[in-house]
Amino acid sequence: MSILKVAHMGHPVLREVAVPVSTDRFRTAEFQRFCDDLLESMYELDGAGLAAPQVHVSERVVVFELDAEDGPMFLVNPVITPLGDERVGGYEGCLSLPNMRGRVERYTAIKVKALDRHGVPFSFEAHGWSARVVQHECDHLDGVLYIDRADPRSLAFLPEYRRHGPLVPSGDGEE
Ligand code: NI
Repeated sequence: MSILKVAHMGHPVLREVAVPVSTDRFRTAEFQRFCDDLLESMYELDGAGLAAPQVHVSERVVVFELDAEDGPMFLVNPVITPLGDERVGGYEGCLSLPNMRGRVERYTAIKVKALDRHGVPFSFEAHGWSARVVQHECDHLDGVLYIDRADPRSLAFLPEYRRHGPLVPSGDGEE
C-alpha cells in the first residue's frame, strides 16, 4: 500500500466534478489497490474521511471512519437525500485546507445510497456528526469545498481557533 499525496486548495482537481465508477472497474486490482491506498492515506493523515479527488483521482469514491469500532466505510457513486429541511451549524476542517476551521450549515439527517468498494449497493440513514462527515466528503465529488459553504466570518486558522474558540457559535452544542 502507498500513502497518496493530498491536493491542496488551488489545485484544479478539487474543483472538478468527479466521474462515476463503472461496473467493470470494481473487479480490477487497480481499483481495489486504490481503495486500500485511499484508506491507508486517511489513517496516515489522521482525517475523519478522504475523497478520491483529494488524492488527485477524479472518481466518485470516498472513505470515512466515524469510530474505530465500526471501521471504515467506502461510498462509491453516492447519492444523498436530505431527510427534512433541518440544518445545523458546526465547525469543519479539511485535509485539502490544512490548519483551518470554519462553520458550515449541514442537513442534520440524510439518506445515503451508494455502492460499496465491491460494487454492492446499500443504503443507510445518517444523523448529526455522521451526516456532516458524509455531506462534507461527498461535496468533494462535486468540486465543492467546505469553505464554499462556510460563514466567512467564522473562518479561523487552527492555532487561533484553539486559542480563542469559535468566533461564531457553532449551533450544534459541540464547541
Ligand atoms: Ni475535505
